[in-house]
Amino acid sequence: MLWSTSLIAFLGAYCAGAQTPPSNLPPATTGIFTVQASVIINAPIEKVWNTLLDFPSYAQWNPFVRSQVVTSAIWVPLEDQTPHENQRLIIQAQIPPLPMPVDANTHANPLHMQTSFENITTLDRVQHRAAWRQIFLPKPVLDAERWQALSALPGKRTYYESREVFDGPVGHVVDALFAEGLQAGFDAQAAALKARVEQ
Ligand SMILES: *[C@@H]1O[C@H](CO)[C@@H](O)[C@H](O)[C@H]1NC(C)=O
Repeated sequence: MLWSTSLIAFLGAYCAGAQTPPSNLPPATTGIFTVQASVIINAPIEKVWNTLLDFPSYAQWNPFVRSQVVTSAIWVPLEDQTPHENQRLIIQAQIPPLPMPVDANTHANPLHMQTSFENITTLDRVQHRAAWRQIFLPKPVLDAERWQALSALPGKRTYYESREVFDGPVGHVVDALFAEGLQAGFDAQAAALKARVEQ
């Protein structure tokens, strides 16, 4: 009987994959390279949204972004970690991501730790869209804004999408050094978010 259960699971996944829901991301821009991932999560949109914006909990589940701290304009961590537009973020990512699953005690790989300094450019709690842009380097040198968006699907399911387009001269360096690891990171975060919210 096992084969038929597997077959049904396979066909279910295949059919789900065949119909990509409409995107809630802004129109894609062009750049040197693009990293993107999406997944359908079997949980209501508000549950996924709250998990995505609960940055202090990232260490407990996120194999890619190990730490994401909301700070003031002069990079001082804020007591209230509820994110708002035009606040800064200090992000520590593992590129490539750590093997899954991770929890708060999982050790970082110091050789793969990258820190970035970002500005929250969009935090739309109605449209379920969030974005942050790196501001360590000026935009003409490295243009990189990570978008994440959710859409409610029938049956209390949620479509999660993330995309980041890299442009500017330093984008070539990031492409050569990190494109594969970043793609693996986006994929890992999407899978881990699904696992976290569905558990
Ligand atoms: C941060 O993003 C907000 C919203 O887009 C913008 O108004 C602000 O100028 C940005 N700040 C910096 C330092 O880039």
